[in-house]
Amino acid sequence: MGNTRIRGVGRSIPPKIVTNDDLADRMETSDEWIQQRSGIQQRHHIDRDTGTADLGAEAAHQALDRAGVKPEEIDCVLLATLSPDFEMPASACVLQERLGIAGVPAFDVRNQCTGFLYGLTVADAYLQAGRYDKVLLVGAEVHSTGVDFTTRGRQLAVLFGDAAGAMVLDRGEDSDRGVLSTHLHSEGAFAEKLWLEGVCGRAAVRLTEEMIVGDDPAIYPKMQGRYVFKHAVIRSIEAIHEAVEANDYTVSDLDLLVPHQANLRINQAVATHLEFPEEKVVNNIQGLGNTTAATIPLALYDALEDGRLENGDLVCIVAFGAGFTWASVLLRW
Ligand code: ACO
Repeated sequence: MGNTRIRGVGRSIPPKIVTNDDLADRMETSDEWIQQRSGIQQRHHIDRDTGTADLGAEAAHQALDRAGVKPEEIDCVLLATLSPDFEMPASACVLQERLGIAGVPAFDVRNQCTGFLYGLTVADAYLQAGRYDKVLLVGAEVHSTGVDFTTRGRQLAVLFGDAAGAMVLDRGEDSDRGVLSTHLHSEGAFAEKLWLEGVCGRAAVRLTEEMIVGDDPAIYPKMQGRYVFKHAVIRSIEAIHEAVEANDYTVSDLDLLVPHQANLRINQAVATHLEFPEEKVVNNIQGLGNTTAATIPLALYDALEDGRLENGDLVCIVAFGAGFTWASVLLRW
């Protein structure tokens, strides 16, 4: 039996562009601060009435078209998101309905910036076990309705963007192509370093007015930025080493590194530490911001469009996010 293969990649990017100067009209920040700290020049935001599953469906349709697969051939739907349409049901069910494929299993993977690689690992396990034959994996986020656009929330509000990416996965014929290995980690001791406390079960029973409208509202995400930055660099480096060494390669064997897009400076620090050429690192955060669970398929999409990702390339994908969680995947394209 062959390895798991990525057959088609699709994306959905809402048309509305929000520049750093647009944000500076709403809060105390500047284009210079945002670009210097994060590399971000702009991000996209939805207009009203577009949800995570809507973006996910558009990305999924494109991935299906490119894979030459009909929606009804999909036998499992996975959606990675930290911004679902509703607390319940899962947005994967909403997405499934949008695609018109009732009856097949559909569920959300809630692991933030690492969510897509957790989803890819679940899909890979199902495919390799022979449980399903064609899995649709989507990463979709609508952040613009969930962050604080006052000066109080500027640390996070400037980073995030809305978008979706999708992949169709199946089993290939070869054992030396496709997904070679996946590596997942988490460490809940750091949960409160990057979290959103106030809109879920444990907080709901004790949600006070102060938690909603006070000086430090619990209804918005919070982050200890520098702490997260340092851990992101260290764990990404570890996870890249883990992926290449598990397959008897070294970092210099990689043709392409596809990192999560949380901050351009994180990815530059990782490349510098590994002495890995920056031109072999896919970065598109400059135009899209951090789209959490969507960044990996969006980056792969760009690498394919640019011709930077070619048949036979050895590719390492790496991500780090809230939890903390971190993960890597090694694949031969
Ligand atoms: N505009 C202007 N000033 C700002 C802004 C802003 N948007 N945000 C913060 N500042 C100010 C702060 O108030 C602070 O001011 P002070 O010194 O007067 O107190 C100063 O800038 C420095 O703030 P820091 O937060 O220390 O800035 P830092 O250099 O650490 O950069 C950043 C912040 C960009 C958020 C960085 O820490 C980072 O990228 N962290 C990691 C992000 C990440 O990887 N997240 C994980 C993925 S997200 C997920 O999983 C959901």
